[in-house]
Amino acid sequence: MTASVTVSVPAKVNVQLAVGPLRPDGFHDLANVFLAVGLHDRVTVRPADELRVTCTGPDASQVPLDATNLAARAALALAARYGREANVHLHIDKDIPVAGGMAGGSADGAGALLACDALWGTGASREELLEICAELGSDVPFSLVGGAALGRGRGELLTPLDVRGAFHWVFAVADGGLSTPAVYAECDRLREGTEVPAPEPSEALLQALRDGDAGALAAAVGNDLQSAAVSLRPSLAATLAAGTQAGALAAMVSGSGPTTAFLVSGEAEAEKVADALRTSGTCRAVRVASGPVPGATVLARR
Ligand code: C5P
Repeated sequence: MTASVTVSVPAKVNVQLAVGPLRPDGFHDLANVFLAVGLHDRVTVRPADELRVTCTGPDASQVPLDATNLAARAALALAARYGREANVHLHIDKDIPVAGGMAGGSADGAGALLACDALWGTGASREELLEICAELGSDVPFSLVGGAALGRGRGELLTPLDVRGAFHWVFAVADGGLSTPAVYAECDRLREGTEVPAPEPSEALLQALRDGDAGALAAAVGNDLQSAAVSLRPSLAATLAAGTQAGALAAMVSGSGPTTAFLVSGEAEAEKVADALRTSGTCRAVRVASGPVPGATVLARR
């Protein structure tokens, strides 16, 4: 019998986030180009008397340990589908910034799902796992597949993308989080009275990914949620400016923020921009990572 399973799951950055008009169901159609980057949470699952979630890591105190945690919801969703109890202890070793627009919560959902599937031997198909991921949240399917992908619909309909080599990033973690629904609502408010086009992926951006061309990617990145995030958190403008001044090729809000992402040309430049951001006093922490990296992966089965 398997006693525990540990899964590693990456963070993401959105290199393009084109947001369409508000849909009747409260979501927005997206052209969402995801890139998985090398900051990882580890989710370990083992049998227990009842469902329990624990968390360690620098931001652990900010992680909810109740049934709102996506890892707990993932275990419950898989158990319900296979008519069993979700009696497991889920432990999250958290390295992805919390409430930051880097899909840390989604990563834990995808990680827990893959871990429970392996622990219980449910043998769910990839399609089934992706379906459960989409029920858990718009970004959860990407956390499972990783790499680089275009997300259509509300972000859950994925097409893998070709990427040459790796892109290097610096992330500035802001104090406190931003509510994703609040950022989308602010985006709607800022665009009120304007005609919002259907979201389309940028051809130049997809080509830059295929070519592994950081300069061309920098010229093509875009995030329609950025002005909304900066409107709700004006201090992000100073963080973006600090990274740009330090030589980043592109500076952007990551997803719905408040983490900001800086594309750089290589590892040495990453260290330079990271140092400048650390001393700028405009953020709580700075992380360096590159991508694409694989999605949720089983590390150990004991
Ligand atoms: O799917 P997820 O739970 O991550 O979505 C959280 C919230 O973000 C939604 O309730 C919605 O307000 C907003 N959202 C959106 N359009 C999307 C994805 C998320 O409006 N495509």
